[in-house]
Amino acid sequence: MYWAPMPIDADAVQFRAMARRCLTLDIAPPKVSFASPDAASLFDRVPEVDAPASFSVPKAYAELLKLAICHQAPDRFSLLYDVLWRIRHGEASLADNPADAAVARLNDYAHNVRRDIHKMHAFLRFREQRVDDRTVFTSWFEPKHFILHEAVPFFVDRFSTMEWFIATPIGTAAWNGSELVYGPPAERTPPPADAVLDETWLTYYRTTFNPARLRLKALATEMPRHYWVNMPETQLIPAMVAGSGRRLQEMAARAPDLAPRFAGKIAARPAAPLPPVADALSAVKEEIAHCRRCLLHCAATQAVPGEGPADAALMLVGEQPGDAEDLAGRPFVGPAGQLLDRALAEAGLDRDRLYLTNAVKHFKYEPRGKRRIHQRPNAGEVQSCKWWLNREIALVRPRLIVALGATAAGALSGRAVSVTKERGPMSFGEAQGFVTVHPSFLLRLPDDSAREREYRNFVADLGRVASA
Ligand code: URA
Repeated sequence: MYWAPMPIDADAVQFRAMARRCLTLDIAPPKVSFASPDAASLFDRVPEVDAPASFSVPKAYAELLKLAICHQAPDRFSLLYDVLWRIRHGEASLADNPADAAVARLNDYAHNVRRDIHKMHAFLRFREQRVDDRTVFTSWFEPKHFILHEAVPFFVDRFSTMEWFIATPIGTAAWNGSELVYGPPAERTPPPADAVLDETWLTYYRTTFNPARLRLKALATEMPRHYWVNMPETQLIPAMVAGSGRRLQEMAARAPDLAPRFAGKIAARPAAPLPPVADALSAVKEEIAHCRRCLLHCAATQAVPGEGPADAALMLVGEQPGDAEDLAGRPFVGPAGQLLDRALAEAGLDRDRLYLTNAVKHFKYEPRGKRRIHQRPNAGEVQSCKWWLNREIALVRPRLIVALGATAAGALSGRAVSVTKERGPMSFGEAQGFVTVHPSFLLRLPDDSAREREYRNFVADLGRVASA
């Protein structure tokens, strides 16, 4: 067993030097005890080596070391050495494995350190002092971990033109506008109160404190008590928390409960006349052409809005444009559209008097060679496009809406619909509806007799719709 003397605040450079020595001597982790150089040890010191092996480590390990080494837990050295040893002995991507107990613990340490650095950036309070005719902003801060070197560069960036001095129990940092100098740990020396800066913090806290948003648990996590002692504004917290109920009542009492004085004038203004429905429908189609509500527009040639008279009594809703519709920019012009035209004519319905549209306005497909294979739109795409379908329905106000297939029926009813089980009348919100099959279902049927039978049923459905 060997003793690896390591000061409690050892940094990555010190740790690396010792770890290289241990690895060069092939000392396995259970045989090395990292302990303070001042503590008496029964073990032999790790011997000096003339030329310790040099090697590179994976990036994930280097990043873990950078932060975890700053933690105050004494076992961080042995954990880091254990992981390093195993990386050197074949577990190359060990530092990326959060399920490993040592790595998990080091990740935890790194997280705490990151948090402490963040708190130092947020909660360190400077006070202005005169030192030999110079203005120096000084501060006393008590971090939980050895984070000085990791946290201070932030202040250099932020306050580069000022002279400042940060004292902490783990060291000091002084910046004179051009040079940063670190010093040894300082005694607890909070700078004297600063009437202007302290009052600024108090005012800031008083004005941003919202009693209606008081969450004590979140307050304790975001502004842990550990840091309160050096933050002037925290002296306000107990009284503000205690008075929050009363302030809430006062706020409610002060809340405006009357319309503003100019509200009458606004209400008296004549309302702008609504545009004729046909114009409004054209405007919606124009908007559909620029739709980016989901990603389907990326691969489609163009959006395909509905078409038909603005006062159509009957609206037919399909699934989405197919290949031919995507190229033509019009609904139901491909093979399914031709079948639909035939069935409509047989059922005595005039296509020119219907409003034909789709639940989804862009063609969704998968490229396969030169072909574009239809893909069913997913629930999110149907939901995004429902916005347009609703607007078409609101403007056309058809007496009856026919859903061709399950996608249309789902979009219109807002739930999953089985066409086999629910074929026939159905209400779509306030509108009367009817569910039937999609014409491309007929095209997909493999044998002629089934296709003929289903086609007859489809025409019969359209016949019921026509007579309704
Ligand atoms: N299928 C549909 O659902 N809509 C069309 O416009 C074309 C084919």
